Amino acid sequence: MKDLFGNALLDYQNGHYTEDIITSTSISDDDALPLPYLFRDFKDMPKLEQQALKLAKGSILDVGCGAGSHSLFLQEKGFQINAIDISKGAIEVAKQRGVLNAEVKNILDETETFDTVLLLMNGTGIFQELTQVSKYLTHLKSLLNPNGQILMDSSDIKYMYEDEDGGYWMDTNASYYGELDYFLSYKDEKETPMKWLYLDFNTLKLACETVGLQCELVMEGEHFDYLARLS
Ligand SMILES: C[S@@+](CC[C@H](N)C(=O)[O-])C[C@H]1O[C@@H](n2cnc3c(N)ncnc32)[C@H](O)[C@@H]1O
Repeated sequence: MKDLFGNALLDYQNGHYTEDIITSTSISDDDALPLPYLFRDFKDMPKLEQQALKLAKGSILDVGCGAGSHSLFLQEKGFQINAIDISKGAIEVAKQRGVLNAEVKNILDETETFDTVLLLMNGTGIFQELTQVSKYLTHLKSLLNPNGQILMDSSDIKYMYEDEDGGYWMDTNASYYGELDYFLSYKDEKETPMKWLYLDFNTLKLACETVGLQCELVMEGEHFDYLARLS
């Protein structure tokens, strides 16, 4: 990984904002990811994220914290927060912004336990593929204190396969429709392609049941997105 995502966050943080990150997927064309969005404060967050922050309690792990926007908000409210991300640049930025416990770490290498584990901005993305969901959920479950909770958001992206006549063009023999190849570029450099998973709520709920987690739909968003609470 070249960490172009982290480089972009560092540029923004250091006052060198000239352009946005460009993303595309196996089923969608180029789209700008505005850097200021990654530095959003509470009022600019989607309702699902605001609700997740309202439900957070106790000791909190922010997984894939990015620039640390959710961590900062909760830290300012007095919560004990650990923020982790595999992006070195993201963690550098989170620290510069004031997140006290921010560390470069893959979620699979986390061993502490928490009252709340947060995975926000399509939290299921880091599972990458449907076949890996059980592994990640089992690990996330092992990070929970008694009565702990996991709060994560995702979307049912079936709508992205809808054609003008209201039919769907997805290949039913192919893998799960929420598994995408994800491409990112920044300042004319291309990141190593990665896999990114969107999970519809029912598939997430079924996967949770197989690993002994309860999965509750907390809230639906405006565009096929939702917030789930796992316990
Ligand atoms: C879509 S961004 C979300 C950033 C932040 N949560 C936000 O809402 O602004 C996903 C983040 O997850 C991080 N990430 C991806 N896989 C990870 C893993 N296995 N462990 C920890 N972080 C991961 C990426 O580096 C990236 O910063």
